[in-house]
Amino acid sequence: MPLNIAMDGPVGAGKSSIADAVAARLGILHLDTGAMYRALGLKALREGLDPKDEKEMVALCGRLKLDVRIGRNGQTTLLDGEDVSGLIRTPEVSMAASTVSRYAEVRKRMVARQQELAAGQDMIVDGRDICTTVLPKAQLKIYLTASPEERARRRWAEMQEKGEGGSYEEVLSQVRERDRQDMGRSVEPLKPAEDAVIVDTTEMNFDQVVDTIAGMAGKVRNA
Ligand code: DC
Repeated sequence: MPLNIAMDGPVGAGKSSIADAVAARLGILHLDTGAMYRALGLKALREGLDPKDEKEMVALCGRLKLDVRIGRNGQTTLLDGEDVSGLIRTPEVSMAASTVSRYAEVRKRMVARQQELAAGQDMIVDGRDICTTVLPKAQLKIYLTASPEERARRRWAEMQEKGEGGSYEEVLSQVRERDRQDMGRSVEPLKPAEDAVIVDTTEMNFDQVVDTIAGMAGKVRNA
């Protein structure tokens, strides 16, 4: 059986960059499932559709031409053949992604695609429902988290570095709003799986987190 590592956690916990680093360390692939919901959110915004309109979003998902390519150098997300890997990272797309990810039919289709992508390969997959729904048989399940204040602080520091505007308070309120949506939705709300190891990174630096998870993965791989 291939090595599957499932990783869930709230916005800003660093799942994607941590998973990238763990994948590189272990020589395996990384699938970022959030990018798929983001691509659907971007498509909705581009077509002037309301992400809150469930029927429209399910229909849009049905005609979504989404191609996710994963390799040793990371993931490329193609929407209608266009590389949108950078364009899906804006706050507007984040909110739209969070909204469209509430719909059961959208989730069903995305989960099926994710399971196809992960089948038969050594892979770390990150998202919100990976431990519970996408890869319930993963050998290692991680719930990566940190306090909302720390997650907002990290995101704000990143924005400062890039010269982007926005106050810490604004970022914190976005983090809280996304938590509310992701944890409060009726379909598969974000919560730690019963058999997941909770890694709280509030007091840890990046390398410590990567070491911790790669260490756990090494143990299950050799077991
Ligand atoms: O991880 P992210 O911030 O890129 O995810 C974008 C949105 O998609 C997020 O609000 C929650 C949703 N999502 C989800 O519901 N299930 C997943 N497996 C991944 C993301």
